[in-house]
Amino acid sequence: MVAAFLPALHQPLPKALIIDCDPGVDDAIALFLAFATDLPILGITTVAGNVPLPLTYRNARNLCALAGRLALPVFAGCPRPMMRSLATAEDIHGATGLQGADLPESTAAKPSQHAVDFLIQQLLTASDPIAIAALGPLTNLAVALIQCPQIAENIDQLVIMGGAMGQGNITPSAEFNIYVDPHAAQVVLSAGIPTTLITLDTTHQVLTTPARLAAIRALNNPVSIAAAGMLSFYGQNDLHRYGLAGGPLHDPCVIAYLLAPELFTARPVNIAVETAGEHTIGRTVVDWYGDRPSAAVQVIETVDADSVYALLIEALGRFSV
Ligand code: BDR
Ligand code: CA
Repeated sequence: MVAAFLPALHQPLPKALIIDCDPGVDDAIALFLAFATDLPILGITTVAGNVPLPLTYRNARNLCALAGRLALPVFAGCPRPMMRSLATAEDIHGATGLQGADLPESTAAKPSQHAVDFLIQQLLTASDPIAIAALGPLTNLAVALIQCPQIAENIDQLVIMGGAMGQGNITPSAEFNIYVDPHAAQVVLSAGIPTTLITLDTTHQVLTTPARLAAIRALNNPVSIAAAGMLSFYGQNDLHRYGLAGGPLHDPCVIAYLLAPELFTARPVNIAVETAGEHTIGRTVVDWYGDRPSAAVQVIETVDADSVYALLIEALGRFSV
């Protein structure tokens, strides 16, 4: 259980939130950040991505169990991208997807509803608009939008970790989440939903430095111990490859943005996803200087990385020892 936590906010928290994810170490840290706060989470939907669906589903359930959120429903979604075969990232997240943590097996009931059906049902019936945090490939959301396009009207904000304007991470052109299912990304980004895209250009500034890792380890509660274990493994590849001062914390930026958007600045842009190029598939093509930017999509331009990390460390300290 956690103490109630509300950072100083310049805009209200979402009234309802669904987190779509593929845990994945940084997804796990993002879930812990969300669990430590007053974000009103309706459910968690899982998708194939960092590891195959049976593992992302199991990992999400076990993360909920560790954090004392057994009542939060977790749904299994699409086991593969819309048109391509699945690419995974065990080199980054380990064979289970959560290397470095030894999690209890969840005893929670397993809802039989498919993640896509849950998304559609919630978005059709909710009295308040719903925010969506998208932390993995966008397959579940794209399939839901294809099946039931009117759900777009009830999404008041969609915050996506995905894309690259500079170097990619899975290829020189592409970031992993968009590369895995570029067709889904194109469906979602062209749906007219108010969307904030947090690309690698931002997340490569939010780094797990040795000092930050030590601060998490020192919190010494079951959640922070799991977080420190995972973060000491995760990101090593990126750290060496890009010469960074620590592993980049991608997905928690989405939750941090929902909690404290004042820590970021954003710019409206036109954006397209490359779905065919031999060397460029999965590239997010951002028209940074276009005259008539999109009314719907904005890309994060700057981040206050120290404050994002401070928010995370404070949040992880809220779990009981
Ligand atoms: C994204 O890809 C995944 O490996 C991470 O979980 C994150 O969502 C970063 O490119
Ligand atoms: Ca992810």
